Parts: sequence; C-alpha cells; structure tokens
Amino acid sequence: MMAKLIDGRAIAEKVYVDLRRETAELKAQGVTPGLAVILVGDDAASRAYVRSKDKMCRELGLHSVKLELPASTTQSELLARVEEFNRDSSIHGILVQSPPPEHIDEAAIVRALDPRKDVDGFHPENVAKLVLEDASGFVPCTALGVQRLLLESEIAISGAHIVVLGRSLIVGKPLALLLMQKNKNGNATVTVVHSRSRSLPQITRSADVVVAAIGRAEFLKADHIHEGAVVIDVGINRVEDAASERGYRLVGDVAFDEVSKKASAITPVPGGVGPMTIAMLMANTVKAARQLGSGGSPEPTKGD
Ligand code: GUN
Repeated sequence: MMAKLIDGRAIAEKVYVDLRRETAELKAQGVTPGLAVILVGDDAASRAYVRSKDKMCRELGLHSVKLELPASTTQSELLARVEEFNRDSSIHGILVQSPPPEHIDEAAIVRALDPRKDVDGFHPENVAKLVLEDASGFVPCTALGVQRLLLESEIAISGAHIVVLGRSLIVGKPLALLLMQKNKNGNATVTVVHSRSRSLPQITRSADVVVAAIGRAEFLKADHIHEGAVVIDVGINRVEDAASERGYRLVGDVAFDEVSKKASAITPVPGGVGPMTIAMLMANTVKAARQLGSGGSPEPTKGD
C-alpha cells in the first residue's frame, strides 16, 4: 500500500497561523521581531535559502535584514558585522548561512553570536541548554521541524524506537537529543546510526520511525525499513538529470519510489521537512523577540 504523504507545507502553514497571532501581540507591545541573515559568498543554493527566509519574514510582518557579503570577506570583518547585530535592538535573531567560504572559522563566528539571538541554536550555550532540557534555549530549526511534523501528524514519539541516520551538528545530534527529552514531546528510544555504523540495515529495520539525514542521495532503500514504518527524509540532494530543464533534480536521502510502497507515512522531497525548517526559524525568531522583549539590546556580556 502507498504510504500516507506527510505534507510539510500544510503543517508549516499551521505554524504560521500561530506565529501571525503572536507577532501581532508582540507588535501591540511595541516589539517587531527582527531577523538578520548573513550570507558570505555566492553559493547558489545558499542564496536561494536566504532569499526564501527573507521572503517569509516579510510575509509574516517581521523585520528582515539580509546582508550579502563577498566571498573575500575576512574573519574580522564578519565578526564585526555579527557584533553590530548583537548590539542592534531591532534585531532579535541572527543567522550566518552555512557553509561559509573555507577561510572563515565558522565555529568562532558561532561563538561570537549573542546566544540569546542565536536562532540557529548552534552556540555552545544553546547546545548545552538542549542537553539540560532548558526550554529557554534555541534548538536547531530542522530538528525542531522534524519533531513538529511527527507531533502534528500524530505519530507516536513517546516510547517509540526512532532511528536517526546522521550525526551532524545541524540535524542528527540535536534531533536525537530532542526526541529523547523527558517530556511529552519526547520520551523516544533513540538510536543514531551513521556512515561507519555496522549492521545499519538491521538497526533501521527495527525502527518505528526512521529519520534520514545522512546527506546521500536515495541512500535509504525499502530493505532498510520494516513494513509500516514512518520515514522522514531530511535530505536535499541535487542529482544530474538531462531530462530536466535545470540539468538536475532534487532528491532526498530516501529512495522514495520503493520506500513509499512499504512505509505507512513518508515525507516527500521537496514539500516535507524543507518548509518546516523555515517555519521553525520564524518561530525561533519570534521566541527570541519574546524573550528579549522591548528592552531590545541585551545587557552587555562579560568582556564587553
Ligand atoms: N545551511 C543549511 N542549513 C542551515 C541552517 O539550518 N542554518 C544555517 N545557518 N545554515 C544552513
């Protein structure tokens, strides 16, 4: 039987209904949530992501600043820009699009962000808050988006065996931490597998839910899952396709045609996890605005 399609666009729309209401409430208190997105270099895919983030901010009535810097931008120039946004009281969320050019030390840039404005959830303080289950922290958007997709689709997380394929800082690790949290949206039994895992198909076959975030086109096959499993596809991979006008097509980390015949529910690519990632970025920005409040500019941190 064909799996039920989990419609990320429709679920993202539900998130936006809540965010519009919350944004209106904040505006009535004199606070317009503001997001600054910094893009260094001219990677086409990154440029497209940044454009869609900016567009969504505008649609929701958020204040949006898009800063596009040349690939030649130095580490200290970029740090200076981050510092400016840290001090800017009209900005509540700051995101530096990844990956930056090779000469940029990304970890140092992330550490320079005010953690209260780190809507990507990459700063060590926010990583620690996720581990500590401190809800005031920010959780990486894709991980949050996957959890929300499961919750809105009424797929049981509590007590379920969820196998996460991939151990990245952006998706795999935070998602595993999120789903194992001791609260009503967690309580899963989580297994993380990756490129070096032995007996990977055996492990994924024992999962109630498989989340593929391994960054390899159509990696997860029908043989990797048991009949009726739920499959969430985080991958976005370009594969050559001469028949396509663009010369490529987008595929996920899941071999959709065969897996969708065996799964009970599955996310498509595009239209699954992707729209949720942007929705969660907007949600994190509104949360940052709520937490920072109209005081805007945060208190100077030690060393300022
Ligand atoms: N590049 C791909 N995904 C992400 C993300 O979630 N945040 C940032 N900053 N860059 C990305």
